[in-house]
Amino acid sequence: MSDPKDILTRMYKTDNSELVLPKEETEQKDVEDILQSNIFNVMLNRRSQRRFEPKEVEEHKIELILAAADTAPTAGGFQGFEIFHIKNNEIKSELVKAANNQPYVNAPLVLVFCKNPSRVKLNFPEEILRKFSLQDATLAAAYAQLASHALGLSSIWIGMIDENMVMKILNTDLVPSSILCIGYPKKILQPKPKRSLKDLIHRI
Ligand SMILES: Cc1cc2nc3c(=O)[nH]c(=O)nc-3n(C[C@H](O)[C@H](O)[C@H](O)COP(=O)(O)O)c2cc1C
Repeated sequence: MSDPKDILTRMYKTDNSELVLPKEETEQKDVEDILQSNIFNVMLNRRSQRRFEPKEVEEHKIELILAAADTAPTAGGFQGFEIFHIKNNEIKSELVKAANNQPYVNAPLVLVFCKNPSRVKLNFPEEILRKFSLQDATLAAAYAQLASHALGLSSIWIGMIDENMVMKILNTDLVPSSILCIGYPKKILQPKPKRSLKDLIHRI
């Protein structure tokens, strides 16, 4: 089996060839935790969280979450989405208003996922390209959400947004698809019950 650290090295490598791996010894455990985290456990135990500890998310975890988002499949591999990492507290407060006054949008880590159909260089009608970019942005957010949980964080997916307000706040002409709010949970929640797979799956 190949050294799993090779995978991590590939994943954490940024365009300017800087490794964003945790460099300090005390942070090494986090990396080991990631290597141990089983994707099925992460998926099964993830719960939406709307109450966060007032604790910053460490920079290396943010980098991992962003790198994970960038591993998601995209239509034609064109990465038809953009991520806005909101660091400014005033902008976070504005986003609360743009999200129907949901206060937890003011979370320690706030990522806004936007569609960017202009990146999708496929010879299809505009409508299809918009649909692809929505799927690209959604998948990237979902990957970021799972990565957050694998890193011991919790998150809430915000879909109830006023798109125009968000665009104005971000000063962009890109249409947002969702906001992912991430932080350390106040309380670990149990996974929600789901309908049985028998009801969900339609075998034809
Ligand atoms: C498309 C979508 C939109 C959502 N929008 C919101 C939202 O605006 N506000 C909110 O509090 N939760 C929102 N959620 C989170 C859901 O309420 C949550 O995922 C659902 O209740 C299931 O709970 P679980 O994530 O703990 O399994 C959204 C989730 C999805 C997938």
